[in-house]
Amino acid sequence: MKVTKAIFPVAGLGTRFLPATKANPKEMMPIVDKPLIQYAVEDALAAGITELIFVTSSSKRAIEDHFDSNFELEANLFDRGKHDLLELVQGILPAGISCAYIRQKSPQGLGHAVLCAKQLLSSEPFAVVLADDLIDGGQQSCLQQMVTVFEQTQASIVAVEKIAPADTKKYGVVEIESTSSHIAKIAGIVEKPEPAVAPSNLGVVGRYILTPAIFDMLENTAKGSGGEIQLTDAIAKLLKKETVMALQFKGKRYDCGSKLGYLEATIAYALKHPEVAGDFQALLREFAQCVN
Ligand code: UTP
Repeated sequence: MKVTKAIFPVAGLGTRFLPATKANPKEMMPIVDKPLIQYAVEDALAAGITELIFVTSSSKRAIEDHFDSNFELEANLFDRGKHDLLELVQGILPAGISCAYIRQKSPQGLGHAVLCAKQLLSSEPFAVVLADDLIDGGQQSCLQQMVTVFEQTQASIVAVEKIAPADTKKYGVVEIESTSSHIAKIAGIVEKPEPAVAPSNLGVVGRYILTPAIFDMLENTAKGSGGEIQLTDAIAKLLKKETVMALQFKGKRYDCGSKLGYLEATIAYALKHPEVAGDFQALLREFAQCVN
C-alpha cells in the first residue's frame, strides 16, 4: 500500500515559547522567512503525500489561512507587478494537494491528537509529521526516506536519532533488535524514561508512518506521561501485534520546540538562504568576536 495522507498535529499549546505563542501558533513561527509548518508540509510533499490533515485548535486559524489563497494580497501583488512574490504565495501548495482540518477540543496529548483524525482515514497507512521537528534531509526528505522503507516492509516506522543520555527524559526511546544497521525492528519503546532506565540512546523524533491498527491501540491507551495520551504508549501496544521499524534517517534535525533548537535552525537556514547568507555570515563573524 502507498502512503498518501499525512496528519499534522498542531493543537498543542506551545508553552515553551510563551508569550510568542499566546495568540500565534508555534507552528507558524518562521525560520528566516518560512513558517515551521510549511517546512513540515514540504517534507511530506517530497515523500509523495497528497492529502494533508491538520489537527488544529481554536488558536491555530492562521495555519488554515496560510494554506488557503489570499485574494486581496494576490491582487495587490499582481497590480504592483510583483510577480516573483505572487508566484511564491501561490506556490505554497502545488496543484492537486488537498487539506482537511479537524479540531482537537483540548490538548490531551499527541496520541489523542492523532486519534482525532481517525474519521478522515480509512484502512490505510498514514504519516504523522510534527512541525516543531525541522529536518534537513539533504538529498532526500526524512519522510521520503521513511516511505522508501515502508514500501519494502509495509510495517509501521518511526524516525529515530542518537540523543545525549541525559536527554532521554525528553523523548520516546526505543530498544532495537539489531544495532548493526540504520534500519531495525523495535523490540520496545518507552516515553520519557530516566537516563538510568532508558533502553538505548535512540530517541524518537517527529516523523512516523503508522498502519491503521494504531487507532485501536490509541482507543485503549490510558493517560500516560504528563497526564496525556501518548502516541509512544500506543506504539508500545502496536509492536506486540505488528512489526514496527526504527529508521536512523540521514540528515540534520532541529528541535524547534525548544528555544535553543529554534535559534540553531535559524542560524543554519540563514547561512544557506540565497538572499541573506553572505551578509548574515559577516554578521555572525562580528558577533563571534564579542563572545569569549
Ligand atoms: P509538543 O509537546 O512538542 O508541543 O507536541 P506543545 O505541547 O505545543 O509545546 P510545549 O511543550 O507546551 O511547548 C508536539 C506536536 O504535537 C502537537 C503540538 O502542536 C506539536 O506540533 N500536539 C501536542 C497536539 O496537536 N495536541 C496535543 O494535545 C499535544
